[in-house]
Amino acid sequence: MADPPDIPPPACLTDFADLARAVLPADTWDFVDGGSGAETTLAANRAALDRVAVLPRVLTGVESPRTGATLLGREQAMPVAVAPMAYQKLLHPDGEPALAAAAGAAGVPYVLSTLSSTPIEEVTAATGGPVWFQLYWLRDRGLVADLLDRAIAAGCAALMVTVDVPVLGRRLRDVRNGFALPPHVTAANLPRGRDDLAHAGTPGVSAIAAHTGAVFAPALRWADLEWLRARTPVPLLVKGILDPRDAVRAAQTGVDAVVVSNHGGRQLDGAPATATVLPEVVAALDGRAEVLLDSGVRSGTDVLRALALGASGVLLGRPLLWALAAGGRAGAGTALALLAAELRDALTLGGCADPTEARQLRTLTGG
Ligand SMILES: Cc1cc2nc3c(=O)[nH]c(=O)nc-3n(C[C@H](O)[C@H](O)[C@H](O)COP(=O)(O)O)c2cc1C
Repeated sequence: MADPPDIPPPACLTDFADLARAVLPADTWDFVDGGSGAETTLAANRAALDRVAVLPRVLTGVESPRTGATLLGREQAMPVAVAPMAYQKLLHPDGEPALAAAAGAAGVPYVLSTLSSTPIEEVTAATGGPVWFQLYWLRDRGLVADLLDRAIAAGCAALMVTVDVPVLGRRLRDVRNGFALPPHVTAANLPRGRDDLAHAGTPGVSAIAAHTGAVFAPALRWADLEWLRARTPVPLLVKGILDPRDAVRAAQTGVDAVVVSNHGGRQLDGAPATATVLPEVVAALDGRAEVLLDSGVRSGTDVLRALALGASGVLLGRPLLWALAAGGRAGAGTALALLAAELRDALTLGGCADPTEARQLRTLTGG
């Protein structure tokens, strides 16, 4: 897709937002961009990252740092993975296979949502890179087991269970827009049974919320996580942790990593920014599980901030949807290349030879 003529080519990830907004229907833009409630948490994510000041080291002799990092025991091109995000055919007809292929080419894992608009097997076939499967717990446990088996059979290298959606957050933009999926976008990995709900455009109702309300299990327990751990033959990550006590409990259950996430400000409005709680989670875990962060990451500098706060890596969300909307696979590739270049510069400016050294940097909060 050609760039709209009056918008300059992107110099950073947030530049993709204008490109995406120019090509997307207004209600799809709102679905991607919006948060829940008054969007307090959505705004707090950015504000908290902006308040993290990193103390660079000097005279370290670093000329060209390595961006490579090991996550879950596997070396990858940078300490970044593509966040699981639903319904990517809303953004571009090529949808998930395009973003997964861009991630594979950039050498970072692609996390495939349960609510993918493309079947698991098609997505894993579209990329040479690692695919991690994101699991939403469905009311029907048999379906959960089937999804897990399919993901493993398709070669998914890790499982990420999202635990912060007992019910969808009240995303007021979607409610006001009466947002519903267009006919060509479906939850391709779920039985067709409740599709009608996701496509029913009713003023004042989010069809996405109605659909997930009918399909997702509302009351997960630690025993469910134990069941999943016992059944999962690949590394297991739990996404949507904010309280250090939950992080410790997850580690005791045997998860390999926790993702400190407030779902990009889309679930509990009033939940803290992830950069605010990350250091406490890292301290509480004390190395018992890896820690990733998402929600608000927009640049290589933000990756450096997350590393300096103690994370092993980050998930990148909305910017990659903007890039997918603006330019399909090529757009997403450009965005990931920009992020890698920014991270290289941030490491150089911080005096770090690699992401591991960045975790030794000190931070101040407050600018
Ligand atoms: C449009 C959209 C769809 C999402 N779908 C999912 C999903 O299916 N599963 C999930 O675990 N998280 C989902 N998320 C949350 C992301 O995985 C991630 O936590 C969040 O986007 C990170 O914040 P950021 O967008 O500010 O980078 C979604 C986020 C967006 C914006």
